Amino acid sequence: MIVIAIDGTFASGKGTLGKRLAAHYGLSYLDTGKLYRAVGYAVMKASGDPENAEHATKAAKDLTGQELDNPILKSGEVAVNASKVAVHPEVRQALFQFQRDFASKGAVLDGRDIGTVICPDADVKFYVDAKAEIRAQRRHTELMGYGEDITFETVLAQLIERDNRDKTRKEAPLKAAEDAHLIETSIMGIDEVFETAVRITDAVLDLKAT
Ligand code: C5P
Repeated sequence: MIVIAIDGTFASGKGTLGKRLAAHYGLSYLDTGKLYRAVGYAVMKASGDPENAEHATKAAKDLTGQELDNPILKSGEVAVNASKVAVHPEVRQALFQFQRDFASKGAVLDGRDIGTVICPDADVKFYVDAKAEIRAQRRHTELMGYGEDITFETVLAQLIERDNRDKTRKEAPLKAAEDAHLIETSIMGIDEVFETAVRITDAVLDLKAT
């Protein structure tokens, strides 16, 4: 059983890497950001306040897992609300077991606290990052593809706001685990990122096997 933990900033390429590693090693894949997005969206739909711990915790406890494929979760507004509900310890607690159960059968998980909190004993950990302007450009192109009417400057401002909230919150802040392998994707293509991660994973797994 192999567990690969991937953390990193938004639009750093960690999701693409996670999916490709899961396919390569025959593992299931969980984008844990979707859990927080689903909670953020549920609060929005109920006209609640994502900064209100009670509203957010109720939505987290009511989550069934059925909501995760809703394309609305990809929107910029939901993302901002996701980072607001994610600061509440009760919300993180409510989503903890689902993630642990998923990992227990062997999996690739990506998020913000996978290597530090959810799977501290993961076999391999990655921390993926890229310059804010480059990530905003990637995200802007993606949002335009969904038909969203949003400027690059707004995307960049939202991304910086979200990074700051994720990195400075008290509970499970975004940071690299001490034993994470850092991958900086600003000037790397998707294939290069994937091949680098496979090289590291194979080396770690070989070492563990001996
Ligand atoms: O990865 P994604 O951008 O979809 O995540 C949305 C938000 O959910 C993040 O900005 C972060 O606040 C929160 N999140 C988290 N812990 C995770 C995954 C996501 O706090 N493991």
